[in-house]
Order: sequence, then structure tokens, then C-alpha cells
Amino acid sequence: MAHTTKLFLTTSKFLKSCNSLHVAVRFSSSWWSHVEMGPPDPILGVTEAFKRDQNIKKINLGVGAYRDDNGKPYVLPSVRKAEEKIKIKDMDKEYSAISGNAEFCEHSINLALGDGNEIVTNKLNATVQGISGTGSLFVGAQFLSRHFPGNKEIYLPIPSWGNHNPLFRLAGLTVKTYRYYDPKTYGLDFKGVVEDISNIPEKSIILLHACAHNPTGVDPKPEQWAQLSSLIKKKNLFPFFDMAYQGFASGDLTRDAFAVRLFIKEGHEIALAQSYAKNMGLYGERVGAFSLVASSKEEAARILSQLKIMIRPMYSNPPIYGARIVNEILSNSELRKEWLRDVKGMADRIISVRTKLRDNLKRNGSIRDWSHITDQIGMFCYTGLKPNEVEKLIKDFSIYLTKDGRISMAGVTSKNVEYLAQAIHEVTK
Ligand code: LMR
Repeated sequence: MAHTTKLFLTTSKFLKSCNSLHVAVRFSSSWWSHVEMGPPDPILGVTEAFKRDQNIKKINLGVGAYRDDNGKPYVLPSVRKAEEKIKIKDMDKEYSAISGNAEFCEHSINLALGDGNEIVTNKLNATVQGISGTGSLFVGAQFLSRHFPGNKEIYLPIPSWGNHNPLFRLAGLTVKTYRYYDPKTYGLDFKGVVEDISNIPEKSIILLHACAHNPTGVDPKPEQWAQLSSLIKKKNLFPFFDMAYQGFASGDLTRDAFAVRLFIKEGHEIALAQSYAKNMGLYGERVGAFSLVASSKEEAARILSQLKIMIRPMYSNPPIYGARIVNEILSNSELRKEWLRDVKGMADRIISVRTKLRDNLKRNGSIRDWSHITDQIGMFCYTGLKPNEVEKLIKDFSIYLTKDGRISMAGVTSKNVEYLAQAIHEVTK
């Protein structure tokens, strides 16, 4: 017995030393020792830091994800009803088509361009289902990188959504910029926009935020959009619309589609990325669409064939569930109306907390002009807070936001707005 125990101990000691030897050898001969630690994502990294914080007063104003007035994630009642309908249909789980759910694609382009629009009527759109807004933009970026006949350069507004630059670069396009936001007025630098667009070389791509510009919440007015449309046409630029917030700017889907519909009316062939993350709250379902408008039905078919050839090796075909929810909502007139009310409810809550935040800042004695909080629209407010002020908000108050001073208004509630206003006043007075 004693002999067996001794033998066991010796063997396990031997195995242990082999193991550590093995580990040591593995480390010294790793293929990956040169890989450097990367920085956290400027937007999603904020949520990670927020989750680690133990302060019960903490607020996450980083990522643009809607919260209800209790600060809780919100599943739209219309979405819940759509899910009930899907459940009783007992549908299969077969693969989708490479281009996604055809009914979904048609609903999506119609949502952007309006029912009965001439593009869909004449089959001039090549539309594919995408992996939310980001995936749809990426499919578009890849297509342009391979097939765009002009300069492989895309011009982004300064500033733009933090993921635009890496996304377009990853797809192989050269990223350049045009002036957009004026930090002095917290509004649009329209003169700068026009000057810079006038200097973009012909046959380049220009990225436009269709509504609720992210991160600034500053959109051109209808007459300014009309001027931009003429200028972009005159300069022979290709407009790529990112429409991630249809419904969120004004609470009205038609109003928020103004720019896209105007460009179509004026004969632009556009690229369009759509997302249902915000307006249906389908963040994690990853459901969106990418469309290109062609000059003929036959050209649209050729474009679609190339989109499919690109998608197949990337992810084969998109997930099915989110598209089914969208179909239920958009094909049922009652549910659609209910959804429109849900969207309006979210937009209105955001608009109301903008006023509350501004009022509370004043009440706390802030003498700064905060009118941009209510002038800007959509999910975000570009506060103008400096990096050191942002750092103080995070460190001293557990209020999390991106370094550029953007706050997601969706994280502001009637319960935390006082604390937020006090904190902003403290760091800015
Ligand atoms: C944001 O800007 O916060 C959202 O669009 C979410 C994201 O993926 O960055």
C-alpha cells in the first residue's frame, strides 16, 4: 500500500513538472508573442468599464442603446407581439438565402424610400439583409472597394461615428474627411461642409448620415440637404447613406427619411445602410439591410449577384429571427401602427430628458449656454465637455461617456437627471 502511494506521488510530481516544462516551452516558442495589447473600443469599451464600477449611482451614457425611464433595456411592446405571432407559426430553422429574407429586403427598402416608390416599382434596387448597421455598412464598403469605378476614397464628416473609419479602412477604402461640426456653435458648419465638398475630387464616395448624426446630433436642414444634393451631383460624387436612426430623430419615420428620399428624387444612385437596432430595439438580433440603387433592372440583378458572391465566403447567409420580427411588424397594419407609436414614445422620451437636463443645469447655477442640448436631435448630445472634464465625470461621479464628450441621451432618466446635471456643473464651473 505504502509502495503504491509513493509511486502515485512520484508519478504526479513528475507529471506536474512535465506540465510546467511544457507551459514554459509553449510560451517561449509562441507564434503570438509579438501581438500587442490593443486599446478597448472607444464606445463599447465604456460599457465594460461601467460594468466594473460598484457605485450605485453610476450611469452609462456611452453606447447608444435605448433605456426606459428606469434605466432598463427596453423591448418594444410591438416587438413582443411580433414574437408571439412567430411562436405560434412554428417556423423551421432552415438557412436563409445568401441575400437574406426576400420579404424583409423589400420591407426595408420601402421603409426608407416610402411605399410605392419608383425604385422598387421598377426593380432598380439591389437589397441584401445585413448584420445590423455595421454589417450592412461593411457589405457596402466591400462592394465599393471591389467595384466602385472611381477613386477608392470615402469622405467622412468630422466627426463621424467612431466605427466608420476602421470599418471602411478594413474594407480597403482610403478614408478622408470633410468639415461638418462647428465646436464654437455646437451646430453645423454648413459653410465648411460646402467648401470641403467642393474640393473633393470627382468620382469619390461621400458618407452622409441620413438623420440624427452620430455623434453630434446635428443634421442639415431640408434646404441645406437640397443644396448638398445639387453640389454632390455637380461634383459627380457617389453618396453612401448611413441610416441607423430612422424614427429616432423626430419620432416620424417619413420625416427622418427626408434626405434619402430627396436624393432619390433628384436622380442620385445611392448606397444605403439601414439598421433596426435602434428603431425596433433589435440590438443583439443584428438585423439591417444594404441597398444599391441601379440604373436598370438588369444592372440591379448583376449587382445583387456580386453582393451574394461576396457575402457567401464572409458569413454564408444572415440570421433568420430578427428579419422575421421585422416582417411581422411591417406586414401587419395594426402592428405597424403600434410600432410607430413605440418609436415615437422613445423619441419623445429622449426629447423630454434633453429639456430636463438643460433645466437642471440652469437650476444648479450653470451659466454656460446649454441650448445645444435641446437643439441637437436623436440619440446623442455632443456636449462640448473637454477630455479632462469627461475624465472627472467618470472618476468622481461614475458617469460613463465617450472621451469626445458625447452622451447617449437614452441613458438619461427622470431619476438620474438631477445627479447628472449636478455632476456636469461641478466639472464645468
Ligand atoms: C453607438 O454609436 O453608440 C452605437 O452606434 C453603437 C455602436 O455600435 O457603436
